[in-house]
Amino acid sequence: MAFTIAVDGPAASGKGTISRALAEQLGLAHLDTGLLYRAVAAATLQGATPVAAARALAPSDLENEDFLRTAEIAQEASKVAVISEVRAALLDFQRAFARRQGGAVLDGRDIGTIICPEAEVKLFVTASAEVRARRRYRELAAKGHDVTPEGVLEDVQARDARDMNRSDAPLKAAAGAVSIDTSDMSITDAIEAALALARPAFDAAAR
Ligand code: DC
Repeated sequence: MAFTIAVDGPAASGKGTISRALAEQLGLAHLDTGLLYRAVAAATLQGATPVAAARALAPSDLENEDFLRTAEIAQEASKVAVISEVRAALLDFQRAFARRQGGAVLDGRDIGTIICPEAEVKLFVTASAEVRARRRYRELAAKGHDVTPEGVLEDVQARDARDMNRSDAPLKAAAGAVSIDTSDMSITDAIEAALALARPAFDAAAR
């Protein structure tokens, strides 16, 4: 059975946590597509050209997740993601993953709009920039990264602007997507809300 849940939204909206929980609860494969752009960014910061790095991307490039989750790589990922040839190089892999047998959850910025508009479930997960920056600050500080709350808010706003205003595959809610605003929700409640939307569609597809 091909069954896809597309989860889009800005940085630190909760989409990653929600996607992982949906995949686990429903027994689906999960792909965090932001990691692809982060891996291209890491190679770019080491001197590669972004397009060549995207074309040469291998599964082992995604392994060092802690390294890929720094603030510096996040900003660079948002920059390489503006380049159409980079996006094109990553397209087939994501589309094949989305329609793999057994079903999949993908989270990113353009899953419901470009990668898999035919997804059975489309979610758009949001939260205010202030709430997202606070979450991201806590996360990075807990891991020992050298960050300030103001710096993280500026980073989040810069990334939002770039991700939403680029001409190729800008971040926006897909047609038919259901929005979940997690600003005032606990993560448990957000997961519950997502499951309540996804489970009926999953049960219908599995029948
Ligand atoms: O989800 P994330 O924060 O790990 O994503 C890092 C950057 O990658 C994000 O700022 C924009 C880009 N990205 C994208 O353009 N399209 C996706 N589907 C996923 C991420």
